[in-house]
Amino acid sequence: MQRILVLDFGGQYCHLISRRIRDLGVYSEVLPNDTAISELKKIRGIKGIILSGGAASVYDKNSPKCDKEILNLGLPVMGICYGHQLIAFLEGGKVTKGYSGEYGLTELELMRKEKLVAGLDGKEQVWMNHRDIVEKLPKDYAVVGKTSHSPIAVFANDKKKIYGVQFHPEVTHTAKGEKLLENFALHICEAEKSWSVSSYAELIKQEARKELGNKRAIIGLSGGIDSSTAAVLMSQVIGKNLCAVYVDTGLMRYKETEFIRETFSKHPFKLVIVDASKRFFKALKGVTEPEKKRKIIGKTFIEVFEDAAKKEKADILIQGTIYSDRIESGVTRHSAVIKSHHNVGGLPKKMKLQLYEPLRDLYKDEVRRLAKQLGLPDALVHRQVFPGPGLGVRIIGEVTPERADIVRRAGHIIDEELKKSGYYDSVWMAFGVLLSVRSVGIQGDERSYKNPLIIRIVESKDAMTASFAKIPYDVLEKISTRITNEIKEINRVAYDITNKPPATMEWE
Ligand code: XMP
Repeated sequence: MQRILVLDFGGQYCHLISRRIRDLGVYSEVLPNDTAISELKKIRGIKGIILSGGAASVYDKNSPKCDKEILNLGLPVMGICYGHQLIAFLEGGKVTKGYSGEYGLTELELMRKEKLVAGLDGKEQVWMNHRDIVEKLPKDYAVVGKTSHSPIAVFANDKKKIYGVQFHPEVTHTAKGEKLLENFALHICEAEKSWSVSSYAELIKQEARKELGNKRAIIGLSGGIDSSTAAVLMSQVIGKNLCAVYVDTGLMRYKETEFIRETFSKHPFKLVIVDASKRFFKALKGVTEPEKKRKIIGKTFIEVFEDAAKKEKADILIQGTIYSDRIESGVTRHSAVIKSHHNVGGLPKKMKLQLYEPLRDLYKDEVRRLAKQLGLPDALVHRQVFPGPGLGVRIIGEVTPERADIVRRAGHIIDEELKKSGYYDSVWMAFGVLLSVRSVGIQGDERSYKNPLIIRIVESKDAMTASFAKIPYDVLEKISTRITNEIKEINRVAYDITNKPPATMEWE
């Protein structure tokens, strides 16, 4: 498949570039910045390379670089932000510290007509996020656009088809960003529009056929869209050799086991339901530290899967890990480890099962599209996502069966009220978080001293950033009243009004 590579220099929008290119119908993937030329030459179908943004300064000793030969492969190359500065630096131009930063919306003035900026007006709104600037161009390069802060905001070397843009075309704030990426991918790189979720699903199946052959495998089915999609897709490859294992950890959603049984009863793979709640609560007893909880949950999951695999005579564990799980778990080189996602970073280093992750390169919205194509029911496709460690990351302090039950029932009330008021489908996720501090209340004329419950409702497009949902007060009031009426252990409800960043969506 023809593709455009994005080299990752650590910028927070790096994956967004690749997603935007895929949205244009061209396959794109992200590789580490220092991928050797010899490795690149082994990849077939490369039509162009994009150097991503990043927080470093090209003059820093340890700043991420790439092999300069990338600019001599005869392939079109475009640098974005740090990538723009890096091209100038590698080609003999000059990059300096700007007199101040240039952040947010900025007016770009285009001085030259160029294939890269075809369809853009003389003046365009672009999104900037940098301090360093390209001060002097390398030989054979021409200035295409400037801003009041960046005298060389866009440059081009037509002959070598090498371009640089100081702004971020991949973020939606850049009004004609998509047009610019289209110009690069379709008209300069001349990449074919051959990528689609369904064509990629065929490639996943081809790879799985090779990897799994006639082997038996189990898949951890959590009831979420990722593992469900992976299960249905893999069952099309290995059929009866696939056994889906749903583990009731005691930290699952309200009536989840019933939902799983009903949803998957008609699918052609074997479904095994394991009630491991006692085992999980025992392992978590007395533990309050969030990363420790995640590691324990990950380890216990694997133990349960290993037992199930032994029974099923399988030695492969399939998981529904997707791209964003891997990014946040620090699998990509420059991103920090935010949390050990249990289906990636939280897994024990030594495990008897061989791990296989067929959806590892897909983004969430792509998995949703695939799930629809595979005929998964709407109730599942439009279900809110649920973290691998389950309610365990929504219980601050010790995880006990009683506390899990409180969070589960609160979550169910929140879901019900959002569905009734029509907000359920427009938010990314909504749930309750149980705190371990206590506050005083008055319930039925009596003083109470209990843990508060936090309502967390967020909007997000890709899980990487989020904003708290501006739910009307009357809906929040209804939720709050129902929680304190129906869950006697709660005497206070608060609404979390923090975006991500600085907070994460889950509390742990
Ligand atoms: P955070 O809390 O990192 O959450 O902002 C982003 C999204 O990821 C989900 N999440 C997880 N999903 N395993 C998962 O499969 C995990 O360990 C995990 N931790 C968080 C979270 O629910 C949100 O949708």
